[in-house]
Amino acid sequence: MVREALILLSENSLARRVATGAPGARTLARRFVAGETVEDGIAAARRLNQAGMSVTLDYLGESVSQRAEAVAAADTYLRMIDRIAEERLDANVSLKLTQMGQDIDDAFLRQNVGRILDRARDVDMFVRLDMESSRHTQRTLDFHRGVWNEGYRNVGVVLQSYMRRSMDDARAVSALGARVRLCKGAYQEPAEVAYQEKAEVDDNFVALMKVLLTEGTCPGIATHDEAMIRATRQFVREQGIASSACEFQMLYGVRRDLQTALRHQGYKVRVYVPFGEAWYPYLMRRMAERPANLMFVVNAVLAESPLRFLVRNRNQS
Ligand code: FDA
Repeated sequence: MVREALILLSENSLARRVATGAPGARTLARRFVAGETVEDGIAAARRLNQAGMSVTLDYLGESVSQRAEAVAAADTYLRMIDRIAEERLDANVSLKLTQMGQDIDDAFLRQNVGRILDRARDVDMFVRLDMESSRHTQRTLDFHRGVWNEGYRNVGVVLQSYMRRSMDDARAVSALGARVRLCKGAYQEPAEVAYQEKAEVDDNFVALMKVLLTEGTCPGIATHDEAMIRATRQFVREQGIASSACEFQMLYGVRRDLQTALRHQGYKVRVYVPFGEAWYPYLMRRMAERPANLMFVVNAVLAESPLRFLVRNRNQS
């Protein structure tokens, strides 16, 4: 129930306006978002690289309906790619096609993302196409296959283990030789297209992980779920797969203890670092994944309000 409500709120524009105007909201977002500017993202990437982590940088934004906004978002990606290359960071970029014009026009989308793929290819950088809700799954995979067939090899996709179709997609993308990030999926989906029970989503995650590790290319296993990580490590060990043949991926600010532990055990860990002003839907999806984060939010808001004595009392009890 809480998860559903939070995901619905993540798509509500009135709630977005209220939340982003609330005192302390920005401070709060900083737990999961590196800042608002390209330089904030670059600084976070530098810090993570120094701690031995690879990075993927995401300029927050989605569901864009104005061409100028989509062009400006792509321009930010170009600046980001240049800065990563200048600083020789161990980082690539992740983007959402709806931020680039997927809901506007296919030719426009191709042109806008093409600029990013070209610039990234010039500096030998990988571009990940994030996966959004099931309304966009087929179009995102078609877009990926299209640019792959045009000869771009620096582009990969994301598959979600809650989607019933993902096993077929994993085999198809693996046959191309393209890289997949595997995650559980963060949107509210109907039972016709997505598994609803955690056990089913987890079982499918493990099945997909095995296919991607045996048939795929350098998969990113994106989860904070220790059971999924254990299953992956066990499979890698049993099959004699080199630990460098895949990477674990986690979100900025989530399970930093686990990120560090895996790195110390010799696994490659990539941290997904979002930045930008459009943090509201991203933050709400993180709340939905772990409603306990809500208490973190409530405490932070209360701490700045006339009701702050409530926080003190709760912390003392
Ligand atoms: P699960 O939700 O079962 O959580 C397992 C445990 O992890 C929890 O008990 C908690 O300890 C911890 N945890 C998980 N989320 C947390 C949070 N927000 N805060 C604190 N603790 C948390 N989704 C999508 O639909 N499209 C995409 O392109 C991507 N991209 C992506 C990239 C990367 C690098 C990651 C790690 C994740 C994504 N996701 C995504 C999000 C993904 O689909 C999923 O919603 C979250 O990763 C949460 O699922 P877990 O696998 O962590 O397991």
